[in-house]
Amino acid sequence: MFKRLIRSNLRRVITKEKNIILKRKIPSLDKCYQDINELGIYLHIPFCEQICPYCPYNKELYKPDVARRYTKAVKAEIDRYSDLIGNKSVSSFYIGGGTPTTMLYSGLAEILEHAFKRFTIQCDIHMESHPNHLIANNLNTIASMGIKHLSIGVEALQDKHLKTLNRPYTVEGVKKAVERAVNKNFTCVNVDIIFALPDQTYYEIEQAGHALVEMGVDQVAAYPLFIFRYTQLGKTLKKSKHKVSNLFTRRKMLGILENIFYGANFRRTSVWAFTRSGVPKYCSVTVPLYLGLGGSGGSYLRDVFYLNTFCVAEYIKALEDGRMPIALSLDLSEAMQMAGWLYWRIYETRFKKIDFKARFGKDFNEIYGRYVKPLSLLGFLKDEEDEIILSDKGIYWLHAFEDLFSINYINTLWGDLKREPWPAEVAIQ
Ligand SMILES: C[S@@+](CC[C@H](N)C(=O)[O-])C[C@H]1O[C@@H](n2cnc3c(N)ncnc32)[C@H](O)[C@@H]1O
Ligand code: SF4
Repeated sequence: MFKRLIRSNLRRVITKEKNIILKRKIPSLDKCYQDINELGIYLHIPFCEQICPYCPYNKELYKPDVARRYTKAVKAEIDRYSDLIGNKSVSSFYIGGGTPTTMLYSGLAEILEHAFKRFTIQCDIHMESHPNHLIANNLNTIASMGIKHLSIGVEALQDKHLKTLNRPYTVEGVKKAVERAVNKNFTCVNVDIIFALPDQTYYEIEQAGHALVEMGVDQVAAYPLFIFRYTQLGKTLKKSKHKVSNLFTRRKMLGILENIFYGANFRRTSVWAFTRSGVPKYCSVTVPLYLGLGGSGGSYLRDVFYLNTFCVAEYIKALEDGRMPIALSLDLSEAMQMAGWLYWRIYETRFKKIDFKARFGKDFNEIYGRYVKPLSLLGFLKDEEDEIILSDKGIYWLHAFEDLFSINYINTLWGDLKREPWPAEVAIQ
């Protein structure tokens, strides 16, 4: 109740909107893409070999025949966009999931080849992977597809925590998988780790941090365990005897990781990620505007946000019938566009005021200057005339802010879209 009140008041101040309601409406795509010269692409692969109890992402169990139909559907979706964006520069390409490596031999290469034919891709490809898939042969296949930045979902480096998360490998096994990837000459190997796990101690966090540095990875993305109410963990954790973290323990755990990574010459490259000095960062779509392909793919354009249906069968059927798989869309007012832009730039921990001016034609200080001064006095950020840089303290409080907004947004929007492939509308409270 209290959280809801803060959320709605903050939303009103930032976006000037009382309610945010996504509607079942396909936006005019010609109009959406006409003024865009550069964009990113996100491709969603919604398959996994097992369903983890904590995971909020849109996925279902992998079946080779469904993956083959999915491949055809994604190629058809690419065709629908080729006239609209074929000659625009794609400057960021990210394959996420689910588990993209489930489709290594059932269509992923075909989809990529097709995307390269239809779009003007001028960037490296970043892709997520599951540790159990990283045997030597598969790593060769991944490299041969032109993937230069690879992320591995390691999640924990103590067997008891891997067990709590129901991850299907041991610490010994996962270290070997990471070692094989690190020796493979990717531009950047990122490892995902989840901290603030049930019953996790500070000592275990410290152990995991040092182990990651020793494993020679280029980047670590460290997420606190988020509890999504529609996941299995979300339904059972409150009733269990496990000790869960609070804001204070999370802050201390993150502080331990910060000390270890800064001490090992890593720099902070996003709210969650630490990257070895001199290595380009691994990350999701980096440009402000992007097109999302696949089931649950979301597209964020200048004045509209839209989402594909989450149901894989409905996504495939829509494209087989020659329909667009878009389930919901939201027109973005200027205040919402600015808030969205700011949210993602802050996520990268720093941004230039001139980029705000280039996007909105307005002076950053005029719009947000009155908030910058007090935040700077509180030590949350540094205002360097032309650039805003978040401090570690500011980044931590952004975590808390994430908890308040993003988790609620995901719980509502993704939760509803998982239950209903084509909802009439979804209201975010
Ligand atoms: C799509 S998964 C990674 C690729 C692959 N599916 C795997 O599990 O190895 C993306 C990442 O999100 C993070 N993640 C998933 N659920 C989370 C949660 N409830 N809280 C925090 N991080 C989570 C994990 O670190 C995970 O590696
Ligand atoms: S964590 Fe990864 S493997 Fe597990 S269900 Fe989520 S996407 Fe699939």
